[in-house]
Amino acid sequence: ELKDNTIIIVLGASGDLAKKKTYPALFGLYKNGFLPRGVHIVGYARTKMDDAEYHKRITSYIKVHEGDAEAASKLEEFKRLSSYISGGYEDSPSFGNLNKTLEKIESGYQSKERHRLFYLALPPSVFIPVAQHLKEQCYVTPDVGKCRMIVEKPFGKDLDSSRVLLGSLKQHWTEDETFRIDHYLGKEMTKNLLVLRFANIAFSSFWDKHSISNVQITFKEPFGTEGRGGYFDEFGIIRDILQNHLLQVLSILTMERPVSFAAEDIRDEKVKVLRCIPPIERSDTLLGQYVAANGKPGYLDDDTVPHNSVCPTYAATTLWIHNPRWEGVPFILKAGKALNEAKVEVRIQFKDVTQGIFKDISRNELVIRIQPSEAVYLKLNTKTPGLHTRAIPTEMDLTYKRRFLDAKIPEAYESLILDALKGDHSNFVRDDELDVAWKIFTPILHWIDGRSGAPPKPVAYPYGSRGPKELDPFISKYGYKRTVAEYPQRVAGH
Ligand code: BG6
Repeated sequence: ELKDNTIIIVLGASGDLAKKKTYPALFGLYKNGFLPRGVHIVGYARTKMDDAEYHKRITSYIKVHEGDAEAASKLEEFKRLSSYISGGYEDSPSFGNLNKTLEKIESGYQSKERHRLFYLALPPSVFIPVAQHLKEQCYVTPDVGKCRMIVEKPFGKDLDSSRVLLGSLKQHWTEDETFRIDHYLGKEMTKNLLVLRFANIAFSSFWDKHSISNVQITFKEPFGTEGRGGYFDEFGIIRDILQNHLLQVLSILTMERPVSFAAEDIRDEKVKVLRCIPPIERSDTLLGQYVAANGKPGYLDDDTVPHNSVCPTYAATTLWIHNPRWEGVPFILKAGKALNEAKVEVRIQFKDVTQGIFKDISRNELVIRIQPSEAVYLKLNTKTPGLHTRAIPTEMDLTYKRRFLDAKIPEAYESLILDALKGDHSNFVRDDELDVAWKIFTPILHWIDGRSGAPPKPVAYPYGSRGPKELDPFISKYGYKRTVAEYPQRVAGH
C-alpha cells in the first residue's frame, strides 16, 4: 500500500520535535524498509542552514551502534535523500519556492503519479497560515496523487478555541487528508488493548461494573519542565497529558466492540463512549505543583515560568461513564511531572470476593504497563505452597521482554508515520473525538485558568516524590484498596 513517488515534507525541520521524534522515526522506518521506494524527505523551516548543518541536526538523536556497518551506511543513504530549504511560515512566495523544490524532485519520476505528505512539526501560532499556504501553493490534485497533512497538538486550549482552529484548517484540508497525532495511540501496548479486550473471551466476561471496582490510568515522569516552562505554563498538565494521551487510552479501554477494525468503526465507538462522560467536577479533582527538593529546582524556580504561577504540574481527576457497562465505576486519570519514576500504566482493580471464607484478602488487579518495559499482569491470590492454607497475592505475568525475546518494539512515531503514509486513520484523532474530549475537560480548565473566580491553588509536592500526599486519600475515596503484602519474587536459581 506504500506508494512510490512520495515526498515527505517536514515543516519545522529545525525544531525540537523534528529532531527528537520525527527524523529518528523516519530513519527507523527507512532502515527497516518501511518507507516508499525512492522516497525523498524535504525539511523546511525559517532557519538558514546548508545541507551539512541540516544533516547534523536531524541525525543528532539517531543512534547507530558502533560497528553496525549496515545501519551506518543506511544513515548515509538517508542523508542523501534528505534535503533542506528555508522559508517563512506566513509568506506565500516562500511556499512557491518550496513547491518548485518539490516539482524538481518529481520531474525525475517515471510516471505522472506523485504524493506529498506534509508533517507540521510547528508551533500552533502558525498552523493556520501554513495549512493555507500549503494548500494554495504546494497541493497536488487528487487525479495525480494524494496530499496528506500530519498535525500535532496543541489543538486549541478549550472547546471554543479548538473549534476555531479545526474550522480554519478545514477550509483548506479535508478530514480525510488530515492526520491528528496523539502519539500514545502509536504505542505498542495501546495498540494491544483492542486485541487483549476483543480477542479474549475470558477478559470480555469481566470487563464491566459487575466485576470492576475502579480503574486508574497513570502517567509519571521523573523530570520537571526544564526549559519547557514557557510552553508548559500556558497549557498545564491536564492539556499536556490528560485531555489527550490518557483520555485516548481510556476510550479504547472502555469502548464497545467495534463492528470491524476499520478506522471509522473504531473511532465511532470511541466517540460514543466519550459522549457518555459528563464534564469533570471540581470535587473530583486534585491539583499539585512540585517544589524544590533533593537539590532539584521547584517549578517556580524555572526562569521561563511566572513567579506566582498556579499552573498544575500534577493532576488527578475522576471520570464517570454513564452507560450500562460502566455506571458507577470511577476512572481516575492521574499525571505528574517531577515524580519518583517514569511509568505509564492502567490498573484495573476488581471488587472484593464475597466475604466469609477469607479474611483480609487482596483484590485482583489487572495491570497493563504501557512503558517502560511493556507488560500485562494479573494479580491473583494463590495458596502459599506448603502445609498450611493461606492465600497470598502473586502475579500471572506477561512481560514482553521475557516473552517476546527478539521482538523489536517500534517507536510510536514510526508506527504513526507509516499509518499516515498508508492513509490509515485508525490511530489518529477524529474531529468529533477531539470535540468531545474538550467538552469533558473545558469546565475544570476554565476554573483552573481563573475564568470563574480565583483559580484553585495546587498543593505542593517535593520534586522526586510519589506526588501530593493528598493522593492516597483521594484514590481511596473512590474505593481503591491497597494490596496486602505480596509473596516475595525470586527468580529460580538465585
Ligand atoms: C508529550 C508531552 O505529548 O508527551 C510531554 O507534551 C511529555 O510533556 C510527552 O513528556 C511524553 O511522551 P512519552 O512518549 O515520553 O511518554
